[in-house]
Amino acid sequence: MEKALVISNLKLYYYTSAGVVKAVDDISFHLEKGETLGLVGESGCGKTTTGFAILGMPTPPGKIAGGKVIIDDEDITTFSETELRKKIRWKKISMVFQGAMNCLTPVYTVGNLMMETYLEHRKEASNEEAYERIIKYLNLVGLSDDIYKRYPHELSGGMKQRVVIATALFLEPQIVILDEPTTGLDVVVQAQILNLIKELKQKLSISSLFITHDLATEAEIADRICVMYAGKIMEIGTNEQIYGREKLHPYTEKLLGATPLLHKKVNELYFIPGVPPDLINPPKGCMFYDRCHVRMDICKEEGPSIKEIEPGHSIACWRYK
Ligand SMILES: Nc1ncnc2c1ncn2[C@@H]1O[C@H](COP(=O)(O)OP(=O)(O)OP(=O)(O)O)[C@@H](O)[C@H]1O
Ligand SMILES: [Mg+2]
Repeated sequence: MEKALVISNLKLYYYTSAGVVKAVDDISFHLEKGETLGLVGESGCGKTTTGFAILGMPTPPGKIAGGKVIIDDEDITTFSETELRKKIRWKKISMVFQGAMNCLTPVYTVGNLMMETYLEHRKEASNEEAYERIIKYLNLVGLSDDIYKRYPHELSGGMKQRVVIATALFLEPQIVILDEPTTGLDVVVQAQILNLIKELKQKLSISSLFITHDLATEAEIADRICVMYAGKIMEIGTNEQIYGREKLHPYTEKLLGATPLLHKKVNELYFIPGVPPDLINPPKGCMFYDRCHVRMDICKEEGPSIKEIEPGHSIACWRYK
């Protein structure tokens, strides 16, 4: 398989007055052409920050603190803001931002919003060309032409999310980052949006990074899963390797245990006891040490590096050393 994107040793830190928050700390993974890679982990583990780091747009006081983001043989962390805007964002990599469907400017129609975005990124395009492209992508996400004239408040949550997805795709990027695209929608609409994303994946042969806190959603959509905890990658494996549950990182085991839909005990509520470590003063050993049910002495002393334990399956845990 060809690689669409390679992330190596990427770091994004927030330089706050309280200290340096190591939100994304030395993560490496790649995205194959046409695949959906799921990025999963509890709230605050650095999923959104990873998306921003890839696009080279950290929110203040964040800064890329190291690493590479390679697309088409170029490390885009070396690009200037202008280059990123001209060559990368929306053209090669786009992002459906977390909660974007609730942030559509209320005074603009869908058509105005999409037209503005299109022309901002394709300065040479005519209004007719932009209009045609907008209608094509509205239809592709299952919306009719008349949505063009509608205001956001006239649309349901599911329709707004379709507009956001159309906007992420209509400049025809190679890669799309979808940040919690189904969170906040009711279950029926969630299923519709997931189906839409699957359909689009086949039609457009696009690579995607699908971010969610929910392993049951990843089971539906992802080809491979990347599990993140406290700014680090704990495990990467294929859907079969993760959900087959043969060899897992203890954190992934607990996450799966806390995902009732996956083992049909829907009435049972289970959460992982304890809280993630402080990202300003992280522990010197494994980030999961405090909450781990199989910890050993060494885990407190030294953080394990991530290691391939079988083809395509890597785990950062001393149990597998
Ligand atoms: N602008 C910021 N300034 C300081 N710290 C930040 C900022 N944005 C995020 N963080 C911190 O960085 C860490 C990672 O946050 P991030 O939003 O990437 O997590 P997430 O995995 O996307 O969480 P969620 O599932 O809640 O969306 C958290 O500890 C968060 O508090
Ligand atoms: Mg987030």
